[in-house]
Amino acid sequence: MDKPHWTKRKKEGLLIPAIATREELDEFEQQNIEEAIQWTLSRNFKRNSLLTEAFVKDVHKRMYRNVWAWAGDFRKTNKNIGVDRWQVAVELKSLLDDARFWIDNDVFSPDEIAVRFKHRIVSIHCFSNGNGRHSRLMANIIIEKMFNGNVFST
Ligand SMILES: Nc1ncnc2c1ncn2[C@@H]1O[C@H](COP(=O)(O)OP(=O)(O)OP(=O)(O)O)[C@@H](O)[C@H]1O
Ligand SMILES: [Mg+2]
Repeated sequence: MDKPHWTKRKKEGLLIPAIATREELDEFEQQNIEEAIQWTLSRNFKRNSLLTEAFVKDVHKRMYRNVWAWAGDFRKTNKNIGVDRWQVAVELKSLLDDARFWIDNDVFSPDEIAVRFKHRIVSIHCFSNGNGRHSRLMANIIIEKMFNGNVFST
């Protein structure tokens, strides 16, 4: 999906001008993502705060904020994958509502809920980039924080 050579548009919002190659970009993004993972590991989240637009954006922001100015912001252009840009918030809301319903009513196993969530959110494609990695981290958060965390241990 990424072209071998960067177009001007691809570099828009890049916060570290020294990044010149795909490998350097991957490296900086990976460092930032590790910070975000540390943040998720160090906290307990309440279920109702996880299944919100604000949390979905916050995770993306924490994964990419050192690298991209638009980290945590919904995309403003259409892509060949994903819903129309004006539908992003609506489709995400619908996914978050469905996920809440699946959990409240034990519709699927925890693993299946996480996998369905991951597939749906990546197909919405909320952000300009980083959606695959974001969806994988969100799935991990759902498994670890919603099913093994303190949510069901009362
Ligand atoms: N044609 C497609 N149909 C379904 N999903 C797709 C398609 N093309 C890309 N994807 C999904 O989009 C993701 C890539 O989107 P994006 O570049 O925003 O994420 P990324 O985190 O930068 O990349 P990656 O997932 O490769 O690490 C892929 O992981 C894949 O799940
Ligand atoms: Mg990408």
